Amino acid sequence: MTRPRIALIGCGFFARNHMQAWAELGAEVIAVCDRDLDKADGFARDFSVARSYQDAATMLAEQRPEIVDIATTVTSHRALVELAAGVPVVVCQKPFAETLADAAAMVAACDAKGSMLLVHENFRWQKPFRLLKAAMTEIGVPRFLRLSFRHGHDIYFNQPYLAEVADLALTDVGLHLFDLARFLVGDVANVHCRTQRLNPHVAGRDAFVASLGHASGAVSSVECSFFTQRDPDLFPQTLALVEGDGGTLELTAGYRLIRHRAGTAPENAEPDLPVWGARPWHGIQESVVAFQAHVLDVLAGRAEPQPSGAHNIGTLAVTLAAIRSASIGQVVAVDQQEAGPR
Ligand SMILES: NC(=O)c1ccc[n+]([C@@H]2O[C@H](COP(=O)([O-])OP(=O)(O)OC[C@H]3O[C@@H](n4cnc5c(N)ncnc54)[C@H](O)[C@@H]3O)[C@@H](O)[C@H]2O)c1
Repeated sequence: MTRPRIALIGCGFFARNHMQAWAELGAEVIAVCDRDLDKADGFARDFSVARSYQDAATMLAEQRPEIVDIATTVTSHRALVELAAGVPVVVCQKPFAETLADAAAMVAACDAKGSMLLVHENFRWQKPFRLLKAAMTEIGVPRFLRLSFRHGHDIYFNQPYLAEVADLALTDVGLHLFDLARFLVGDVANVHCRTQRLNPHVAGRDAFVASLGHASGAVSSVECSFFTQRDPDLFPQTLALVEGDGGTLELTAGYRLIRHRAGTAPENAEPDLPVWGARPWHGIQESVVAFQAHVLDVLAGRAEPQPSGAHNIGTLAVTLAAIRSASIGQVVAVDQQEAGPR
């Protein structure tokens, strides 16, 4: 079987994980692009890529890839996804878009040209959550979910732009957690959220607590802080508790999956350390490999996008509803009409 032709746009901090994961999967990145050509040239050198470009349109016209992997920050996503529409598989990093209108336009552009559109939502592809999802068949109908992502890791060292984002906890990790809540328990009907600004050195709100009402009647409690002082620090682990009619499952610190059932030992849910990886990042790095293996399955027709751009519009709608709830101090309905096509 020939190896699919992959082109990557955005040669920044996180894209190094994309490149390592494509290499681990034996996939061929034929070209990379960055508006800062030095960065594109650096990636081409570091990862033995044949061509580097400064302009994404030129790269796509000349290289005709089968997968476009967009790893830029959010403000560039709409223009780049619209440009890439027509390529068989388009992958866009999170946050997918800043507005529902932009997200709907990106989905429509890909639909019109027959492209499969995925959002790089890797939290649901983390090993602990793959195992938790599989184990949920053991506990009946889920009624309650708690997700907790609290740490004090210096995320601003590699991602200095985060220090300027107004709702950084909600728009950087909140949407990962809301995608997890939808993945595990289903669609969200309404949200109440409180935000905090804890770190005096950042401009935005770096913590939140959200209460989600799911369409099924289940409820979720979702919390996130980037300024939690504890040793050892839990970064980048997400803790979880799911209660169903027939049992309770829990992900605890140290990547342990616990079935709250007499006589059941904890299961080790720790992700493998990729050969190119480093602790504590392996929790995320392994999920990038798992997600990108899924992208190859989508291209080959072996899987449906998880999640698709259309699905991720709903996650963006929850995130925007949470921001609004925090600003007005009330429960806000997540308007699925407004959320666009499913
Ligand atoms: N899924 C995850 O776990 C995870 C983790 C970290 C970051 N991210 C996301 O990845 C994205 C990138 O984050 P980062 O920290 O690597 O950012 P970064 O600023 O380090 O890299 C982005 C790169 O994109 C380039 N770029 C921007 N617009 C471009 C355009 N139109 N054409 C070509 N190149 C362009 C920039 O020059 C820059 O080099 C963000 O949206 C971030 O939220 C996801």
